[in-house]
Amino acid sequence: MAGLMRRYHVTTFGCQMNAHDSERIKGMLESLGLGEAVAPDEADVLVFNTCTIREKPDTKLAAYLGDAAARKRERPDTIVAVGGCYAEAQRERIFERYPFVDVAFGPGSIPHLGEWIDAGGYGVERGRFGTHEHFAADLPDRRERRHQAWVQVSMGCNSACSYCIVPAVRGREQSRRPGEILAEVTRLAHEGVREITLLGQNVNSWGRDLAPDLHTEFGELLRACDAVDGIERIRFTSPHPKDFREPVIAAVAECASVCEHVHLPLQSGSARVLKAMRRTYGPERYLKLVAQLRAAIPDLALGTDIIVGFPGETDADFDATLAVVEEARFDSAFTFVYSPRSGTAAAAMPDQIDDGVKRDRMEQLVAVVQRIAAENNARRIGRIEQVLVEGPSRTDPDLWRGRTRRNTTVNFDGACAPGDLVDVMIDAASSTTLRGRAVPALVAM
Ligand code: SAH
Ligand code: SF4
Ligand code: F3S
Repeated sequence: MAGLMRRYHVTTFGCQMNAHDSERIKGMLESLGLGEAVAPDEADVLVFNTCTIREKPDTKLAAYLGDAAARKRERPDTIVAVGGCYAEAQRERIFERYPFVDVAFGPGSIPHLGEWIDAGGYGVERGRFGTHEHFAADLPDRRERRHQAWVQVSMGCNSACSYCIVPAVRGREQSRRPGEILAEVTRLAHEGVREITLLGQNVNSWGRDLAPDLHTEFGELLRACDAVDGIERIRFTSPHPKDFREPVIAAVAECASVCEHVHLPLQSGSARVLKAMRRTYGPERYLKLVAQLRAAIPDLALGTDIIVGFPGETDADFDATLAVVEEARFDSAFTFVYSPRSGTAAAAMPDQIDDGVKRDRMEQLVAVVQRIAAENNARRIGRIEQVLVEGPSRTDPDLWRGRTRRNTTVNFDGACAPGDLVDVMIDAASSTTLRGRAVPALVAM
């Protein structure tokens, strides 16, 4: 309707990087004068920020785009924009496959959104594909959460894991300059943010492409963020085990606001499979790093990513993964069934694993992961944990929900507000959550 503000809706798939990119897509669209629609069927501009890490998100997207096509038949002036990793991977085919798509853009092209969707969301040049040239992290954003924020430290990835599509869709690693990162962290602290998560495909290699006089070692960046007033918690994801060096371990151990929580993707516990994955470490080196981390950081919570069914994975390889899981005793693990991605080295490897075998291994792995996580969480019962309050519990509106420094979700009773840091006595535990009650803050004597 003429005269009314045009509205956008963004649907997000994929990882935290994409969730953060969506905040910036929203920020860009709002800077163009569009407002957010509460639901897709009230929007004039439909944006899909896509993921293509496995086949599943591709299939999910196809269903969403089916709805968008139907909407466009009803309201032909609707603009359909597809951004993110799937768009980049399919840049040659996307307009053929989905002819109703008006604009497509890769993950690095958010700054150019305004060139394709003009003020008010009218008059796009159809069939435009945008791709990235430079790292522009300093964009307006529309944060989803008031007290927590993502801060991008790098984009792209220089590793060559044989299963992974990310280097092909996000490009070579480009680090953001430390001054720019710290300016953003300081601004966020002024806006009331208490917890930041530094984001990069391989955060520990941050800075290697910058001039050495910029103090560009990831441990130094952690220390600089720790010194920002008002930031109470710092997390980072994901480090690559090959780049997790002594100065970073020391920074995590020594900085009060860096949480005792490390997400350290394992992928496999078999030396042979890790080699075929091109991870450049073996199980011994991984476990040695875990031991170093545990020795330096008391009460450390360890998370991981594991893939089952990589080409050529034998029962013995899979058993080796289970053995590392038993030894590392992860507090949480994202487990994935290997999914061949076109253009990656592993997709062309012989000995692709049968779906039934993959499913079977997945089931076994999940059972072990859940048992260990439940045992770890049960040890929290009777302890007082510091919790950052996020909002009402998702399962019981009478309870609050928040996360501990170790990144476990806690549902608890108490009088508090989102953004508060409260002490919670833990009364019960499952493999994924804790239950407790707020206790008055202990006064230091
Ligand atoms: N850059 C991050 C992870 C990116 S993708 C890192 O290296 O830590 C997140 C996880 O998806 C990976 O850690 C891996 O476990 C999984 N993954 C990536 N490609 C996959 C594929 N082709 N099939 C199944 N899982 C995959
Ligand atoms: Fe993919 Fe490996 Fe880079 Fe992670 S480090 S994004 S798994 S290529
Ligand atoms: Fe993330 Fe998916 Fe891209 S996991 S980097 S959104 S392919």
